[in-house]
Amino acid sequence: MEEKRFAIVTGGNRGIGLEICRQLASNGVEVILSLRYQSRGEDVVRKLKDSGMSNVIFRQLDINDPSSITSLAEFVKTHFGKLDILVNNAVESGMIINEKEFVAGGGFLQVSDEKAHLLTNIIKEPYELGENCIKTNYYATKAVTELLIPLLQVSKSLRMVNVTSGYGHLFWFHNEKLIEELLDIDNLTEERIDEIIQWFLTDFKAGKLQESGWPLTVSAYKVSKAAINAYTRLMARKYETILVKCVHPGYVMTDMSFQTGTLTVEEGAKGPVMAALLPNNGPSGVYFHETQIASFSPMEYATFVKAFYEGK
Ligand SMILES: NC(=O)c1ccc[n+]([C@@H]2O[C@H](COP(=O)([O-])OP(=O)(O)OC[C@H]3O[C@@H](n4cnc5c(N)ncnc54)[C@H](OP(=O)(O)O)[C@@H]3O)[C@@H](O)[C@H]2O)c1
Repeated sequence: MEEKRFAIVTGGNRGIGLEICRQLASNGVEVILSLRYQSRGEDVVRKLKDSGMSNVIFRQLDINDPSSITSLAEFVKTHFGKLDILVNNAVESGMIINEKEFVAGGGFLQVSDEKAHLLTNIIKEPYELGENCIKTNYYATKAVTELLIPLLQVSKSLRMVNVTSGYGHLFWFHNEKLIEELLDIDNLTEERIDEIIQWFLTDFKAGKLQESGWPLTVSAYKVSKAAINAYTRLMARKYETILVKCVHPGYVMTDMSFQTGTLTVEEGAKGPVMAALLPNNGPSGVYFHETQIASFSPMEYATFVKAFYEGK
């Protein structure tokens, strides 16, 4: 008989995270749907149970709260003894969006650094929200990962999926030296990523994004996801036994996109779920654009993306 596989999905109560839970469960995985507010869990899991999913339970997890991560790790250790799949999906956008104008203009499809000056009334990025975005998307994701690694190492087929974004691709950065540094995965360190983040936050606070070649739009979110992509590669280098990937789900109809995405949540969850279920000889330290592997290099990615959307 096949051994049971256990998965944790962060931010599992809505959007792509909820659908990842649903698709993992329908593939026979025992899913721990984790969510920030305990009070919402019963309702979410009851709806999944009503649709025939009996292998989903919920646990509270605010990824910004170390004690909540520890108690989830203890729960998994006591009840299951191991963890096979971790999907880091929870996200803060770091933006305040004027919904009406954002939706009318085509959602994120209208966003480019060339048009940054036209977007100032549509997307606002206050420093505190940007800082919190990096704290959640990068540092809290790292904290969850690090506290759960001992449980993942008990598994015979451990998988980690960091749900990233096309916006985290270095394609959006304008500083060649920084791009080179972030691509040089043999020499990059977590300490250097911290320094780069501090450098960004200093420039962000001082309103000096252009001077250092940072993304001018959706800036903190892009930096947080670029940091996660680099971390994914460092993890793959450090832990040969963990298959770790970052996956851009596509542009998906969720609350974050104010339902302006071009993909349904079912389509958006496909890439992360596929990456979570790849066989033991599957790739590690790679970037998936939906379900296809793409390069970390901006030039190659630009070519890939052009062909990808032309082929659709
Ligand atoms: N939608 C897209 O087009 C798109 C495109 C590219 C990448 N992505 C990526 O896909 C993933 C899911 O995005 P989505 O569109 O589904 O987002 P979403 O609908 O905004 O959902 C975000 C989820 O993250 C949770 N969350 C936020 N802060 C948390 C915290 N401190 N602790 C635990 N949970 C927390 C939210 O919980 P609450 O309900 O409690 O707020 C919610 O469940 C993200 O990593 C995002 O970057 C999405």
